[in-house]
Amino acid sequence: MTIKEAIVLGRTKLANSGIQRPLLEAEILISYQQEMDRVSLILNENKKIDDIDGYLSLIDRRCNQEPIEYITNRAGFYGMDFIVHKGVLIPRPETEILVDKVSQIIEKNSIEYIAEVGVGSGIISVTLALKFPHLKIVATDISDKAIENTKANIEKFKVDNIELKHCSMLDSIDSKIELLVSNPPYISPDVSLEKCVQEYEPHTALFADDRGCLMLKELIDLSIDKEIAFLACEMGYDQKDELSKYLQSKGIKEYSFYKDYAGLDRGFTAKISIS
Ligand SMILES: C[S@@+](CC[C@H](N)C(=O)[O-])C[C@H]1O[C@@H](n2cnc3c(N)ncnc32)[C@H](O)[C@@H]1O
Repeated sequence: MTIKEAIVLGRTKLANSGIQRPLLEAEILISYQQEMDRVSLILNENKKIDDIDGYLSLIDRRCNQEPIEYITNRAGFYGMDFIVHKGVLIPRPETEILVDKVSQIIEKNSIEYIAEVGVGSGIISVTLALKFPHLKIVATDISDKAIENTKANIEKFKVDNIELKHCSMLDSIDSKIELLVSNPPYISPDVSLEKCVQEYEPHTALFADDRGCLMLKELIDLSIDKEIAFLACEMGYDQKDELSKYLQSKGIKEYSFYKDYAGLDRGFTAKISIS
């Protein structure tokens, strides 16, 4: 079978399984399996494939709703190509907005020391480390798979200003921190997600008690306890009222919420000065 014929076959199988972009994904999977970029695919469309079964097994995994990022171990974020391991949250486009919000605070306040709780694949810390080489970043996660995944991206992007800690929240970290950033688990455990998320992505990265607000509230408390000047978090579209009340109840007056690309409430930034 030629590359062209394999793409047509893959596209048909993916379309029959309800995959939204069947042609694109068939091309991505064959380009991954043949280790060819997509331009070379077109130039070599009449080339015979040696391992057609290998390609079809990738198509079958995708037909079974496994996220394409776990099949190829790649995910795009902030215009870059990150490594993503199975067992670690797949980067989402809206998290780029969190990076932009944090970047504005760093620039405006000449910040040097930041921390990230829940580093996952490392997309936030690595992007910030590349944008601001002067930053000193400490990043934590409770998941060893996440720590390993971030190490792989630190190596890939050759950044040397991230210190990784396998721990909960900021336990055992005493260094100076001026800003805390986090995209914590924020989905209520009673919400059922689409199969590709529910079955394949790690639940410790997705779900939190207290209708998804538990860790967000703990991050607010932590920033107050550690006297961290700024906090920036991603959150669920329906958590603005509850978190607004919580921030106010803690005496925090300077905070604002931001929206995602779909116009839904998606996060907040806060200046942690208590009055
Ligand atoms: C929603 S994912 C975010 C991953 C990555 N920062 C991103 O934006 O794609 C949340 C991450 O928080 C981690 N996590 C959950 N509870 C934690 C805790 N108590 N302390 C540190 N990390 C935690 C999970 O293992 C997961 O990697």
